[in-house]
Amino acid sequence: MDTPTPSAAPPDAAGLDLAALAAANLTPVLGRYFERSWSHGEGHRLYDTAGRAYLDFANGIAVSVLGHRHPRVTAAIHDQVDRLIAPMAAMGYAEPTVRLARELATTLPAPLDSIFFMNSGSEAIEAALKLARRVTGRPGIIAFRGGFHGRTFGAASITSSNPNYRQGYEPFLPSVYLTAYPSVYRDFAGDEERAVEVAFRHLRDLFHSTISPEEVAAIVVEPVQGEGGYVPAPPAFLRILRRVCDRHGILLVADEVQAGFGRTGRMWSFEHAGIVPDVVCMAKAIANGLPLSAMASSRALQERWGRSAHGTTYGGNPVACAAGLAVLAEIRDRDLVANAAARGAELAAGLRAIAARDARIGDVRGPGLMIGVEFVTDRATREPDGTTCEAVIQRCADEGLLVLSCGVQHNVIRWIPPLDVTPEEIAEALGIFGRVLAAVPAAGAAGA
Ligand SMILES: Cc1ncc(COP(=O)(O)O)c(C=O)c1O
Repeated sequence: MDTPTPSAAPPDAAGLDLAALAAANLTPVLGRYFERSWSHGEGHRLYDTAGRAYLDFANGIAVSVLGHRHPRVTAAIHDQVDRLIAPMAAMGYAEPTVRLARELATTLPAPLDSIFFMNSGSEAIEAALKLARRVTGRPGIIAFRGGFHGRTFGAASITSSNPNYRQGYEPFLPSVYLTAYPSVYRDFAGDEERAVEVAFRHLRDLFHSTISPEEVAAIVVEPVQGEGGYVPAPPAFLRILRRVCDRHGILLVADEVQAGFGRTGRMWSFEHAGIVPDVVCMAKAIANGLPLSAMASSRALQERWGRSAHGTTYGGNPVACAAGLAVLAEIRDRDLVANAAARGAELAAGLRAIAARDARIGDVRGPGLMIGVEFVTDRATREPDGTTCEAVIQRCADEGLLVLSCGVQHNVIRWIPPLDVTPEEIAEALGIFGRVLAAVPAAGAAGA
């Protein structure tokens, strides 16, 4: 696959110590993976302010899925900026917004044909929660432990991938119930069948002891948990969940914010299970970096929600939608979903070969280009090893490769290369990762 040709570094960024400048006025609240200052991006490389190139397998957390300064996306943005920037959601119709809704609908299975645009993943989740309550007339929302759905109050109410996302914010949205996710490796040592059985036992217990299914508006699930540690739900789990929702008139909401847009080797990660959710939330990759998100459902469902039951000022702004159209065209024209599947298989095979030689890696998992590599202090106990994981990530960056962690214990490296990553880049990244692992001492070793 071709990536855009590199250009010279913009001269204005060279040598700036942005971290020092930020210390004065930029919020100290935001967490960061790196204390590095970035100048620009070109193709699959990110450049720091000293002009050093890094192979970017982080992509702003699975956002710039076509890499940086992609010619088609950049041209679409420039063209739209020259025509119309202002959002037209309340004014009428803007061409890129209407066209993107149509294009997105063609990527979704029937009957999901109606798109509500917003600006962030959290907002898409908020919309799904509001829709579910209003349409069903029921209060209950069920979500899964270890899930991450965002930082706004509704989204945070169903988030439990880290106590820091919840601490000090109680009380959350009422009538939210968290239940067990089938975490096959961590909780069941790889026994998928048992993971599914136990997860449904917990759900049944919840229905019997706490909230009747007839009081539940929605079940919200990440088909592959993202922030919680790159944990794919077994397809059988999602299929049974679909049946449970059908039986009780509960809306099944798939959070595809991180796993969607081809990342898992299918356009939508729920496709691996052959199910159709009632509502799909998407964001991140949708506009390769511009703020845009969407909630999709059938038109009939949103008609029941009702006119002006929800709204937005910026959602579906024409510039982000023009970028979104270019992203979808590029995914289609270059068959990038298939590329994600093929490159993902190469990457997973390479990571498994490395794991076979290194007992600090307990598990390599995940579909397509959404792969988690879990570090443990001991394969038998599966005790999480966040220390080694963090050391490996920082050392990889020193060696010119950007990868990020995830997981409740920050002990999983998530591999999320761009969708148009090449075999050469996969090999380059695996080479760096292998060398770094050899150089990072085992946690607890002298000098570690
Ligand atoms: C699965 C999932 N849902 C929702 C969100 C929230 O998206 P945002 O940060 O754009 O609000 C995220 C963000 O990482 C996510 O991974």
